[in-house]
Amino acid sequence: MDKAEAKRRIEELSEELRQHNYRYYQEDAPTVSDYDFDMLLKELEALEKEYPEFADENSPTKRVGGEVTKSFETVKHKYPMLSLSNSYSREELEEFDERVQKLLERSVEYVCELKYDGVAIGITYKDGKIFRALTRGDGSQGDDITTNVKTIRSVPLKLQGDYPEEFEIRGEIFYPLSVFRKLNEDREAAGEDRLANPRNAASGTLKMQDSAVVAERKLDCFLYYVLGEELPYKKHFENMMHAGKWGFKVPNPNKDLIRKCSDLDEVFAFIDQWDQQRSELNFEIDGVVIKVNDYDYQEELGYTAKSPRWAIAYKFKAEQVETRLNKITYQVGRTGAITPVANLEPVLLAGTTVKRASLHNADQIEKLDIREGDLVQVEKGGEIIPKVVGVNLKARPSDSKPTEYIKHCPECETELVRYEGEAQHYCPNSWGCPPQITGKMAHFISRKAMDIDGLGEETITQLFEAGLIKNIADIYELNKEDLLPLERMAEKSVNNLLDGVEASKQIPFPRVLFAIGIRYVGETVAKKLAKHFKSMRALRAASFEELVEVDEIGDKIAEGIISFFNEERNRELVDRLAVLGLQMELDEDANAQQSDILEGKSIVISGVFQNHSRNELKELIEANGGKNVGSLSSKTDYLLAGENMGPAKKKKAEDLGIQMISEADFEKMISA
Ligand code: IVH
Repeated sequence: MDKAEAKRRIEELSEELRQHNYRYYQEDAPTVSDYDFDMLLKELEALEKEYPEFADENSPTKRVGGEVTKSFETVKHKYPMLSLSNSYSREELEEFDERVQKLLERSVEYVCELKYDGVAIGITYKDGKIFRALTRGDGSQGDDITTNVKTIRSVPLKLQGDYPEEFEIRGEIFYPLSVFRKLNEDREAAGEDRLANPRNAASGTLKMQDSAVVAERKLDCFLYYVLGEELPYKKHFENMMHAGKWGFKVPNPNKDLIRKCSDLDEVFAFIDQWDQQRSELNFEIDGVVIKVNDYDYQEELGYTAKSPRWAIAYKFKAEQVETRLNKITYQVGRTGAITPVANLEPVLLAGTTVKRASLHNADQIEKLDIREGDLVQVEKGGEIIPKVVGVNLKARPSDSKPTEYIKHCPECETELVRYEGEAQHYCPNSWGCPPQITGKMAHFISRKAMDIDGLGEETITQLFEAGLIKNIADIYELNKEDLLPLERMAEKSVNNLLDGVEASKQIPFPRVLFAIGIRYVGETVAKKLAKHFKSMRALRAASFEELVEVDEIGDKIAEGIISFFNEERNRELVDRLAVLGLQMELDEDANAQQSDILEGKSIVISGVFQNHSRNELKELIEANGGKNVGSLSSKTDYLLAGENMGPAKKKKAEDLGIQMISEADFEKMISA
């Protein structure tokens, strides 16, 4: 390929990928398989590497981030970023409508939209290219977080169609709830505190210095407002719809996410609909925004110091109910963290019956003065577990007594400790406190760790109570004679369990490292450490300084590792696991593993995987005699399905009767 040809191909691929991105993220209607998309992206990456002079700074390959910003620059907004005045009742909306009509001396068309609960962003485009993304800041100046915003897939880097030369578009960046929940699960698995809500989480992520980390986080962005001197229409709704054609993710009127309303009754109907349906959305909203559609009228209405007179937010009441708090109990997690739990009189909230709610920690109980016997307000946010947000003091029983937070572990009686700077109390008896021991073992066998078939959390507790296992290494010394006499342990389940234990010895080193439960070492950190140190031995010998030198390993993680290996019992345990045959080194030749086990099989890969990149999976398929194909057909043998696989693909596989296999199934297949 000569230079001219490379240039042409780079442009062609960039355009094609941009189109696919748009269909995937904005229209939710992809026309190529994920695999084909990846292949195009890889081709572009390779060409850009060979011919860096043609690599566009806004190329679709730039989504992966990589730029690190030490401190974000403060930049003045061209148009101040105002807020909205809030309303909480129909009367207030009626007053708003009356004011508008009086000032304009006529009735007007409104546009109703959802009020997304995320982080406000103003993005400027020049000549069809993303130029700068600023946070709201104090309204007149904000932080330049362009590098991080560029990693959000639904934010176009380059526009299509008849866009104005320069304009600003505003919107809200947020975590889809499914992504937020997974983020918290991962944090919990790494022994970290859960994040309180999706909005704070999004705000924290956007302020991260390493854009490559932001790129992995799957933030999303909805746009709701265009500003500029040369906009195509003089109306908000029409400009928004048009911005969709330039490549922006704007609300879809066919899904009722935005609606033109000719009077207040129609506005109320929109509000009522979303007040009821909001729990079905995969993102948080806290109300509805009502805007005057026509720019001339907007101009006439003007602004107060803080907000436009042509728009108002109607805030939903949080989904909240009042119920009796019967008892406060305390849970002990695998790290020893104590979580107080409110056991409630069962009550219906946002479509589910709630019996328990989180009380967070001692400070929260003290701050709200929450007591057993109180009538409490319970609210549901982005979290699955609802929380207690207030107490009805008027209804407090006369004999009520302030809550005394426990001083000893409810499970093992050990005196609790509270480390500096942490909100949680801890039971320090990590080697003797039953839920901590079983919690550690449950983590060890979990799907993303050692994934031991035939062994679940309940069985772990059963085996622990029977005195057969006291730590994770004991799992590898279980035998048939010990297991058969136990309840629910027929010959078949025993064989299953022992086979599962044996098979787990092949689980690669990064997962073993995750499984042993070092504080703050989650899945991703374990992979990074494994890649850097290559063996448990090297990791164990690493000093604090050597640890923090590794990309993305901070003081907290380094301390977690050092204190883990400082403990003799941990060192002994790891040694035992090594003797028992677990993988303690990175197998860099994993891909060289060859067989003809998949001879004649054609396999489609779809979704995201825990242990392998899609490219590694392709290589593994080929190394084992199989063929990796791009799209499903009646000739496909297996669909290797990861997370986030589209429902359409799943249905197609089912319709064609194609067997779906997980990454774990696949790993077993090729290691058989
Ligand atoms: S319009 C000048 N539309 O709510 C008015 N804002 O409380 C510009 N928000 O700063 C804002 N959804 O961060 C508008 N559909 C929507 C919105 C929305 C969420 C946020 C935005 C704004 C804040 C005001």
